[in-house]
Amino acid sequence: MVTLGIESTAHTFGVGICDNGRIIANKKSMYPIKDKGMIPIVVAGFHMQNAPKVLKEALDEAGLRITDIDAIGYTKGPGLGPCLSVGLLAARFISKKYRIPLMPVNHAIGHIEVTKQAFGIRDPLVLYVSGGNSQILGLLSSPYRHYHVFGETFDIGVGNMLDNFAREARIVPAWGSQVAKVALDGKYIQLPYTVKGMDFTFTGLLTAAEKALKNHSVKDVAYSLQETAFSMLSEATERALLLTKKKDIVLCGGVAQSARLKEMLGSIAKSHSTRVFVSPNELNADNGAMIAVVAEKMFKAGERYPDKEMTVNQKYRADTVKISW
Ligand code: FE2
Repeated sequence: MVTLGIESTAHTFGVGICDNGRIIANKKSMYPIKDKGMIPIVVAGFHMQNAPKVLKEALDEAGLRITDIDAIGYTKGPGLGPCLSVGLLAARFISKKYRIPLMPVNHAIGHIEVTKQAFGIRDPLVLYVSGGNSQILGLLSSPYRHYHVFGETFDIGVGNMLDNFAREARIVPAWGSQVAKVALDGKYIQLPYTVKGMDFTFTGLLTAAEKALKNHSVKDVAYSLQETAFSMLSEATERALLLTKKKDIVLCGGVAQSARLKEMLGSIAKSHSTRVFVSPNELNADNGAMIAVVAEKMFKAGERYPDKEMTVNQKYRADTVKISW
């Protein structure tokens, strides 16, 4: 079975193809973020222009034609409304024209399942960290099989927090990954640390870090911000690990590309005789393959959807999705 997935939650328009779980194509175009960040309607226009090209590249990479596709997945949410709508439009057009069943996929579940599949893990504790999201999840079977959210950010995602700081500190390009480079060899200054049980908040930390730029070097503030934010995430994850007694940890989402976060979580995992599994970067950055992987699981489990359910939902929560596989 061959499944095509379309991802368009934010700056990335991605098309991936999997053949019975094996990823055979994963192509994308990324909106180049400048000093103003992302203006959703502008990013959506960029995706519109690039969609046909990315689709063709993915089909070429897989050596397939569109008529070879058995199912299509698109990202229903969470994400930026106009960007999600472009993905739905593209997926729906192909689905209607070639009569291919269409599956609405949750973005977070895409990140989780593609990592589980890569390492053959069945039931991990998940730390999902990206621009817009930061959550600790794990499968529960009651009242229905779903990813329960054990803890999450009360305000912004850790990725957006780092990106916002980068813009304020005039770090170019304004990405969390660039903050990590600036932070090398920085010294620690104290910043607010807020964990409530397994939940956390980042806006207070961001404001304090921005203020600290007046009296400290960018390097020291960047280092301290990263250490504080990742320590908060690691502490909350450790608490969830003790509560759930899960045997494996999956770290996924855009911020899972951070070497420092991997290292911190790895040391916690080691002290509890568990392991942290992290996908290669191309699967942690937003991509179409992860949407294809989930759509295939949904299709094989017998899920089918009427046309009226083909919508987008900017606040589509992972814990509202019934896991049928
Ligand atoms: Fe993502």
